[in-house]
Amino acid sequence: MDSVYLDAVISDDERRGRMYRGQIFVYSPTPGSKALIQLARDMVKRAFGSLDPETAQFHMPVEEYVAVLAELKPRFIHAPEAKECLQAILRDLKCNMEKTYFDVPRMRTATSDDYLTSGIAYAFHPHRDTWYSAPQCQINFWMPVYPIVAENSIAFHPRYWSEGVRNGSAGYNYAEWNRVSRPTAAEHIKSDTRKQPMPEEEMELEPQVRLLPPPGGMIVFSGAQMHSTVPNTSGRTRFSIDFRTVHIDDVRGHIGAPNVDSECTGTTMGDYLRGTDLSHIPGELIAAYDTPAPTVAA
Ligand SMILES: [Fe+2]
Repeated sequence: MDSVYLDAVISDDERRGRMYRGQIFVYSPTPGSKALIQLARDMVKRAFGSLDPETAQFHMPVEEYVAVLAELKPRFIHAPEAKECLQAILRDLKCNMEKTYFDVPRMRTATSDDYLTSGIAYAFHPHRDTWYSAPQCQINFWMPVYPIVAENSIAFHPRYWSEGVRNGSAGYNYAEWNRVSRPTAAEHIKSDTRKQPMPEEEMELEPQVRLLPPPGGMIVFSGAQMHSTVPNTSGRTRFSIDFRTVHIDDVRGHIGAPNVDSECTGTTMGDYLRGTDLSHIPGELIAAYDTPAPTVAA
């Protein structure tokens, strides 16, 4: 990784090609992304009532806070308007809607001062999404809902674009995770015992790159990019939205970022919905990526 493109006027094919070589794109808010963060803000405001959502953590017991998020987050993920906003964003960025597939948007929260860093507000250690069964052609979109600062943002670790890290991805299978671990997210308040693919060696996290787009501004990057949640010391909870896409030609051609260290099994390929009619990726293509979990000797 050596370049960050700002509001690049470029075809989506060319853009994906550059992202597969480690470059990152940042876009100013578009009509679609503005609508999406407005939807998020409306839902967040309703969920926290009279409290300011960015500082509500200082006025609520953590268990109560978790209960609010446990209701809010799935409601946002499954809101039909959210999908419409995603479609608008992809059109804004000139993606081919017939060939681009997206998954549902997630709302993430990073609370300040170690108030809650596990379970439903998991603070992501350095990782690649490709350690979590995402295909090498996955593109990630990330945007803040409220203004962010360096102390509550997302960090990229460019050194590891081309350098592998010893990690636990071999023990991760997406289907298995969905079956066992994800449904218990809200139960993990103080610590998180769910087995996630972690770096298994000391990493050099500096220098790192923190990009600070305005609310609704988007960071767009390869799912193979090493990134992490910045430990939030800002005094404000960060709310962000992310979602992922794949382009069917790249899925078919097994084109994408180079795999330097991911050994997970299974695939998230069954999650993506076509930009036009929300249909799934054809079964035979999903099957081509769906490697079986290793059998554990008794
Ligand atoms: Fe990630």
